Amino acid sequence: MKGVVFTEFLDMVADRFSADMVDDIIDDAQLPSGGAYTAVGTYPHSEMVALASALSRRSSLSLRDLLLAFGEHLFGRFVVAYPAFFTGQHDALSFLAGIEDIIHAEVRKLYPEAELPRFVVESRSTDSLTLIYASGRHFEDLAEGLMRGCFRHFGEAIDLQRACLGEGDARTERFVLRRLPTA
Ligand code: HEM
Repeated sequence: MKGVVFTEFLDMVADRFSADMVDDIIDDAQLPSGGAYTAVGTYPHSEMVALASALSRRSSLSLRDLLLAFGEHLFGRFVVAYPAFFTGQHDALSFLAGIEDIIHAEVRKLYPEAELPRFVVESRSTDSLTLIYASGRHFEDLAEGLMRGCFRHFGEAIDLQRACLGEGDARTERFVLRRLPTA
């Protein structure tokens, strides 16, 4: 997993908890890398799970809630770090419909070693989008947080429902997104 994801995670922990919490979870997690991340480095994704689990133990928050919050935060950081991906993008569902073929395709060019999930558009209408997420890394909660960050960025009210389609080596999850009528 790219170092940028780790540095953003630790920045969020410093902001929302404290610098001491960052040190504590790095100690607890017993990381092969020692926790000294650079944005351009690549580290085992298991270190992210270990850090988030350590934070969950030390805070009263579940791993799911932490990954959701981190996903929302991370999307906001992507908006700042990768402005070119947002040029000409006006709504969340169109943006998310292009996650595989446009956004992550560009990410793959920038970081050939990136371990990205696979997203398939199962169906699409003006006001809805069904995406299937598949990844051996089981970051479906992070995916939900990123989607919620995307809704917030575009200022849209969108209902999100999820269903697990398969566990095992690769986790498969269906996300059904529906734009809510505006009052
Ligand atoms: C401008 C927007 C985005 C950028 C620049 C971006 C970039 C990245 C990068 C750099 C990684 C790390 C890859 C690695 O560590 O090797 C990643 C992982 C991931 N991205 Fe994106 N991403 C964006 C939007 C999204 C959105 C909107 C979603 C959800 C629909 C998403 C879902 C994920 C997930 C779930 C992972 C974790 C890896 C996994 O599950 O296997 N990303 N992305």
